[in-house]
Amino acid sequence: MKLSIVPSHVAIILDGNGRWASKRGLPRSQGHYQGGQNLFTITKEIRKLGVQKLTVFAFSTENWKRPKEEVDYLMTKPIEIFETRKEELDHQVKFIGRRDRLPQGMLDLINDIEKRSEQFDDSFVLYVAIDYGGLEELVHVAQNKEVKDIESFKLALMQPHDVDLLIRTGGEIRISNFLLAQSAYAEFYFTKTSWPAFSKKELFKALKVFEKRQRRFGGL
Ligand code: IPE
Ligand code: IPE
Ligand code: MG
Repeated sequence: MKLSIVPSHVAIILDGNGRWASKRGLPRSQGHYQGGQNLFTITKEIRKLGVQKLTVFAFSTENWKRPKEEVDYLMTKPIEIFETRKEELDHQVKFIGRRDRLPQGMLDLINDIEKRSEQFDDSFVLYVAIDYGGLEELVHVAQNKEVKDIESFKLALMQPHDVDLLIRTGGEIRISNFLLAQSAYAEFYFTKTSWPAFSKKELFKALKVFEKRQRRFGGL
């Protein structure tokens, strides 16, 4: 199980949690719970494969439209999950997205995780997008007077690194306002497998597909 080319930056749209649960006769929240657990599994695996940056879409600027009960679950359950698994943290974690609308508990969790993870080097960084929207990010950058060219534009983004491989689980073939500028030359991989069921094997398959892609960036 070897890869000759490994993407340096992988982004994943963690979709399909609710449908995964509904199909099993469980409440949607169970899908979010299993999805949260799977983030630990896949982060470990992707790091072992040599990927240096992983950005995951956990909550979009549009997800506030969901029923209050679901939003509340998504904003509080991660606190509990992290509490039980915090000893496993052995890499940097950064959060991207708006901070001004997050409940205090979530803000405290973000600050706690970022602080704990500061001690690790940047050979592997997990970026978690919460209350993140690509269009909002671009509006923010458009107001930045320092932005003069592509290089300064990229540096002004919340996630300044280009995406090499963008994976979306859950079966939808769309980008849903994730990393719009950063995906300018990303390779896309869509799978019907829902996020809670997305396994180490599926991850390897996605990286194998990436390995065969011919990236030209406009050249020949
Ligand atoms: C992704 O799963 C997680 C979030 C958007 C928070 P969904 O909750 O969108 O699950 P589906 O797509 O409805 O199955
Ligand atoms: C995208 O999933 C956002 C996240 C995974 C956090 P959605 O379930 O919100 O996307 P749409 O509504 O199907 O486009
Ligand atoms: Mg969805």
